[in-house]
Amino acid sequence: MNILLTGASGILGSDISSQLKESGHNVLGFSSSDIDLFSYQDVKTKVHDFKPEIVIHSAAVTNVDLCEEHHEIADQINIIGSENIAKASRKIDAKVIYISSCGVYGNGKISPYNESDETNPVTYHHYSKLEGEKRVRKFTKKFLIVRPGWLFGGTPQHKKNFVEARKKDAFNASLIKSAGDKFGSPTYTADLAKQILYLMEEGFNGTFNVVNEGCASRFEYVTEIVKLLKMSTIVESVNSDAFPRKANMPANECLENRNLSQANVNKMRSWKVALKEYINLTYQS
Ligand SMILES: NC(=O)c1ccc[n+]([C@@H]2O[C@H](COP(=O)([O-])OP(=O)(O)OC[C@H]3O[C@@H](n4cnc5c(N)ncnc54)[C@H](OP(=O)(O)O)[C@@H]3O)[C@@H](O)[C@H]2O)c1
Repeated sequence: MNILLTGASGILGSDISSQLKESGHNVLGFSSSDIDLFSYQDVKTKVHDFKPEIVIHSAAVTNVDLCEEHHEIADQINIIGSENIAKASRKIDAKVIYISSCGVYGNGKISPYNESDETNPVTYHHYSKLEGEKRVRKFTKKFLIVRPGWLFGGTPQHKKNFVEARKKDAFNASLIKSAGDKFGSPTYTADLAKQILYLMEEGFNGTFNVVNEGCASRFEYVTEIVKLLKMSTIVESVNSDAFPRKANMPANECLENRNLSQANVNKMRSWKVALKEYINLTYQS
């Protein structure tokens, strides 16, 4: 299939791109310098010139604190950009696969969220990701919306590489602090990409949480990273107040793959097994 992929240079986009190519698809991938998402004219030209059957929209402004201070950036890229992708895709009958976020659920529950839970985002970034979903639903009828967890993956050179950032922290100190009161579902980009490809190839529509199985505090997650990297740095659990941020991140971003399980297509393994594989592949070979 002809597949247009935005965000192709990101940690998730690079895995989606390589897996699509390995599966024999014809991929046109864009980074931020290749497409002006805020310009409908540019998006339409790029989409209509390539004539994809599927548009995977993984691009987003992912800096949560930047979005909190500059709503206009989140509006232009995450909201209007997604609307432009949906409108241009509908005109050529291409399906949109929109990559959303675990943060769209907000703070309403202490147990993992499923797709029937209410969305009530508490940061502007997550509001913009949810609004992006709404624009996709409004402007096209052919869509798949995927809500991932806390992503890890990519190369050590990727800016958003969480494991690499913690490795540097641990290398530079004998003790590092991590929030024991923020919970999420760590999710390997390669596993997420594989599940997205499966849903795409089998023709699934609708909205799906897609996370590696399990839930962890930031502290548990960072402790596991340091252990797997075989570093001796001590990780201390602290209250998230120790890390003042512009955006007040939700306390619970854990998800349950309920729609995947109900459709009997949940391919996601435990986050600890996936993290071990990623660290072995990236740092121990
Ligand atoms: N990382 C997470 O923990 C997480 C959690 C939940 C959901 N998600 C979602 O997953 C998707 C992929 O995230 P990621 O972690 O792979 O992010 P990433 O590594 O920060 O990559 C973001 C991608 O979007 C592109 N991009 C950014 N601004 C753009 C603009 N103005 N115009 C066009 N493209 C632009 C970037 O291009 P450049 O490389 O040129 O900047 C890059 O390819 C996003 O939709 C994100 O919201 C991520």
